[in-house]
Amino acid sequence: MHQPVSKAARMDEVIGLFATPFMRVPGALPAHLVRGLVEHFSALAKTDNNASAHLSHTTMLQPGDSPLLVEVASLVTPKLTDFGALIFGERLGWSVKEMWVNVLDTGGRQAMHNHANSFISAVIYLTATHAEARTVFMKSPGGHDFAFKNDHAGATSGPFSADKWISPPVEPGDLVLFPSYLMHAVPPNPGARRITMALNAIPTRLDSWGYRITFGG
Ligand SMILES: [Fe+2]
Repeated sequence: MHQPVSKAARMDEVIGLFATPFMRVPGALPAHLVRGLVEHFSALAKTDNNASAHLSHTTMLQPGDSPLLVEVASLVTPKLTDFGALIFGERLGWSVKEMWVNVLDTGGRQAMHNHANSFISAVIYLTATHAEARTVFMKSPGGHDFAFKNDHAGATSGPFSADKWISPPVEPGDLVLFPSYLMHAVPPNPGARRITMALNAIPTRLDSWGYRITFGG
């Protein structure tokens, strides 16, 4: 006897394995706090970056350095807990380990890098960001073997074939979070001065079947 087969069961299916989380939090910081940070920190960004003469950073800041940073940390920390649950499967305690401000003038760029000794990294956009100077994320360029690619005008790129991803448009006050190992860069900025705050965060502890490690201090 003929068995009916549901249409859904016969459809081809593509499953994205082992996805990398990237979290957007629009309007994470209120306008008054964004204004206060721009005024306070743009004057302090004096440490030149060797990748670009038009990029400078503040020194590493601790939340205790300014009441503004305490406010930033209190707004960001619940988001770290949410994001951390995605990568570690548990709502752990999280703390901002360090934060700094990047001032990218017209023509400045940020070379590809990732953040060591950290689990979650985040960027808070404090000014408008030119469309061409959005943060770009890349697959790790590592590997020590021959590479094969099919990238030309006739090839389209998608979630499985692309090796870079341009983050969506952002507004001042927006926050994005990503795993600290993820490589990222900022292409040359054709727009006006672009100011961002970056931070690194660590969980209080990790536990692998009783093998525990604690961070901080
Ligand atoms: Fe970075």
